[in-house]
Amino acid sequence: MAIERTISIVKPDAVAKNVIGKIYSRFEDNGLRIVAAKMKHLTVREAQDFYAVHKERPFFGELVEFMTSGPVMIQVLEGENAVAKNRELMGATNPAEAAPGTIRADFADSLSVNAVHGSDSLENAAIEIAYFFSQSEICPR
Ligand code: PPS
Repeated sequence: MAIERTISIVKPDAVAKNVIGKIYSRFEDNGLRIVAAKMKHLTVREAQDFYAVHKERPFFGELVEFMTSGPVMIQVLEGENAVAKNRELMGATNPAEAAPGTIRADFADSLSVNAVHGSDSLENAAIEIAYFFSQSEICPR
């Protein structure tokens, strides 16, 4: 299987709930390794740029407001099929539809306040990793 890298973001709601460590355990217990990490309070400009693909969607303003409401924890995860594995561990976008035992089922509040972000494809993972990390900030195993 392919060793991939993906972006994970612990969103402001989950940082405020003090569950970064619990979420990290989900990654580590399922074969994903954290090879870079930073805590950051996103500016409006950074959130708008990061979510630019959604800028025409009706919830864009709400999404940017939420993502800039407090610090986030951003990490690069590395492992076999890391993109799909992370999405599986996160669960569905809407926690009401997330499978039991997933991060969103356990820690998210709603469709808009949903604990974590994860890259949705290998191509977007590369773009999102480069958005937040320089090569020298990534420490492969
Ligand atoms: S997808 O599969 O990426 O297109 O997911 P999608 O469900 O379209 O959601 C994209 C991101 O927008 C967030 N979202 C919302 N924010 C605020 N209000 C509403 N109604 C809303 N609906 C979706 C959702 O949490 C996704 O954020 P990320 O960080 O990409 O997971």
